[in-house]
Amino acid sequence: MTVDDLKALVRTVPDFPAPGIQFRDITTLIAHGAGLSAAIGHMADHVRRAGAEAIAGMEARGFIFGAAVAVHEGLGFIPVRKPGKLPVPTIGVDYALEYGTDRLEIDPTAVGQGERIVIVDDLIATGGTALAAIELLRSAGAVVDRAVFAIDLPDLGGAERLRRAGVEVDALMAFE
Ligand code: PRP
Ligand code: ADE
Repeated sequence: MTVDDLKALVRTVPDFPAPGIQFRDITTLIAHGAGLSAAIGHMADHVRRAGAEAIAGMEARGFIFGAAVAVHEGLGFIPVRKPGKLPVPTIGVDYALEYGTDRLEIDPTAVGQGERIVIVDDLIATGGTALAAIELLRSAGAVVDRAVFAIDLPDLGGAERLRRAGVEVDALMAFE
């Protein structure tokens, strides 16, 4: 499947979850077997080129793409979780995203010292979520210099913010 085919599988829902937001919904992409498989294959190509030793994905949509890419590449997966979910001492950070604020937490012992971890998520908008995950993983000892997304929303500037933080960004498609 071409990238245009994959893009056509993403559903756009206006005014969700707040007025003025064009929500790029991956539900329709992941319901399509060939589409999901092609998206994971393309994302895995980027992850392999980055020399990843492990994948980190952000709850919840990042778990779908991140875990699938990790299995594709035979790598471990580190869940970056919403608050209060991990049963061990965590490190956490509050952050802002296109339509609100939230908090992410990790188990710092899941991260190897100097381990090259690639971030995988469905979508980058403001980059707030990815930057929060990068900050947590780096503070736990990881090397994070690459992030891979299915969708980039370039008008929101997230990929540029990540590049300024020393993280190169790959995305399969963009919605202007
Ligand atoms: C979405 C998406 C990204 C994030 C991108 O997650 O899956 O993680 O927003 O936005 P940003 O670049 O502005 O930070 P959301 O917080 O809506 O949670 P979900 O995965 O549980 O749907
Ligand atoms: N996460 C942040 N902004 C989003 C958008 N416009 N569509 C889907 N997920 C998002």
